[in-house]
Amino acid sequence: MPLSVQTVSTSAFSDQKPGTSGLRKKVKVFQQTNYLENFVQSTFNAVGEATIRNGHLVLGGDGRFFNNHAIEVIIKMCAANGVQKVTVGQNGILSTPAVSATIRKLNASAGGIILTASHNPGGPENDFGIKYNMTNGGPAPERITSAIFAESKIITDYKICPDMDVDVTKIGSTIFEIASGAKFELEVVDSCDVYVSLMKEIFNFEQIESFLKNFKLNIDCLNGVTGPYAKRIFVTELKCDVKSVVNSEPLEDFGGLHPDPNLTYAKSLLDVMKLGQHDFGAAFDGDGDRNMILGKSGFFVNPNDSLAVIAANQDSIPYFKGKSSGFARSMPTGAAVDLVAAKEQKKCFEVPTGWKFFGNLMDAGLINLCGEESFGTGSDHIREKDGIWAALAWLQILADQNAERQSVEKVVRNHWSEFGRNFFTRYDYEEVESAAGAKLMSTVEKQLATLKDQQFEACGVNYTVSLADNFSYKDPVDGSLTEKQGLRIVMSDGSRIIFRLSGTGSSGATIRLYVDCYSNDAALFDKDSQVLKPLIEIALKISDLVAITGRTDPSVIT
Ligand code: G1P
Ligand code: ZN
Repeated sequence: MPLSVQTVSTSAFSDQKPGTSGLRKKVKVFQQTNYLENFVQSTFNAVGEATIRNGHLVLGGDGRFFNNHAIEVIIKMCAANGVQKVTVGQNGILSTPAVSATIRKLNASAGGIILTASHNPGGPENDFGIKYNMTNGGPAPERITSAIFAESKIITDYKICPDMDVDVTKIGSTIFEIASGAKFELEVVDSCDVYVSLMKEIFNFEQIESFLKNFKLNIDCLNGVTGPYAKRIFVTELKCDVKSVVNSEPLEDFGGLHPDPNLTYAKSLLDVMKLGQHDFGAAFDGDGDRNMILGKSGFFVNPNDSLAVIAANQDSIPYFKGKSSGFARSMPTGAAVDLVAAKEQKKCFEVPTGWKFFGNLMDAGLINLCGEESFGTGSDHIREKDGIWAALAWLQILADQNAERQSVEKVVRNHWSEFGRNFFTRYDYEEVESAAGAKLMSTVEKQLATLKDQQFEACGVNYTVSLADNFSYKDPVDGSLTEKQGLRIVMSDGSRIIFRLSGTGSSGATIRLYVDCYSNDAALFDKDSQVLKPLIEIALKISDLVAITGRTDPSVIT
């Protein structure tokens, strides 16, 4: 019997504004009647019938709590909205990079939907998220996310095929007949195939495999979505010991872990690495787009350095050979990659926070490598940042330099000797009252006009402000202007203090304070805290942060 299409009346929610990366809310919020359905229908309405009807859409998520339910609802809504085909990962699982790769590989004409709250904890009491990606495989740009929000405020009904029997456990295609006369195809694919083949095209797996015979890995998936991908790549393809990949079962609540690869939340990886039994450690976040790289004995590679090192060693990676386009980083990211670009006479773009701003630059062939300080690194092989790709990039660079018996630490130290070091830290003050977050920002913002040329002294070091503004970005490809992207205080020697409010939190405000400064004095290379302290003190003084928030210490330091 053809499946009936039901039009269900609904009322709008006022809080469905996508943030830095899609809509993220507590699971309990998503569990409200029609909340998910409203957002999905608003997305279809915003993207437009011309794209959705008869289109091909890719769907998958990181397997967190509510993933299964959302997959089923979205498939039923796709069928009802005239989508011709949905390609979904088996059991609803696809990492964020895998969705991007699959959209591109299959030329999915209606783009894709990713179900994840990224690095935010999962489970019934924690977070869920949903975002729309375009046909280029990248996150929807502002004009689409704003249109989704606008639609979400006026929505009156959504369409669904309530009687559809959705089974995503078995690989294969099923054709459904819809009462309208249309046909709908549900294609369930292996979650890893497309992504793994792509990695094999980008890297020289034989070279990495032979290098890994004498190089011990510790890959920590933090019970997020990357487990199956890491096992396929590191164990099956690259023949590493099965023990090289840990926490590799995607769990609905990430086993209680906070799947954010940094020194705070992936401390267990750091502790194991400190024992000195592994040469290389990596961790990824819940949906697999973030990465943290560690060397032997827990040597930490700052994401800004990771980006710069990959940039400086691009020729070790087959994919990049002979390609000459530029680099990009988000504004708060440390400026290490800028120095590589300058040396190689390449362009380096500075964009607002969020991967969506890199897409146009990649589509226009202006950049092929980019990153963010928030443990995001990636290239134009897809339109999302890519955790496993970053680990493979490092291994390829190490393998290519094996003759010199390189280690992660040596590669980084050689880089510093050549380029100097960008010192960087980010202080996060999480779950601050929203009003206090706003007050902090306005306290700094009010001073912007008068900060220029002011001098500050802390710990015996003097700084003079040379620029103070609220960062805005004009996209060089489509000319769109994005304003108010972070308060910047730049000193005359290039050191920077930046304040932003997070756009990914699900409640309250998270204040981010970033400090970036540079030195080519080798005697300082291991003295991070000494170098950064004066700027942090100046930042706290200008912002009056302690008094306004009542917080004497940040909740996370990266
Ligand atoms: C954070 C990071 C940002 C990243 C985003 C999605 O956004 O700072 O670099 O692109 O998560 O992973 P924020 O919470 O700062 O808005
Ligand atoms: Zn993520």
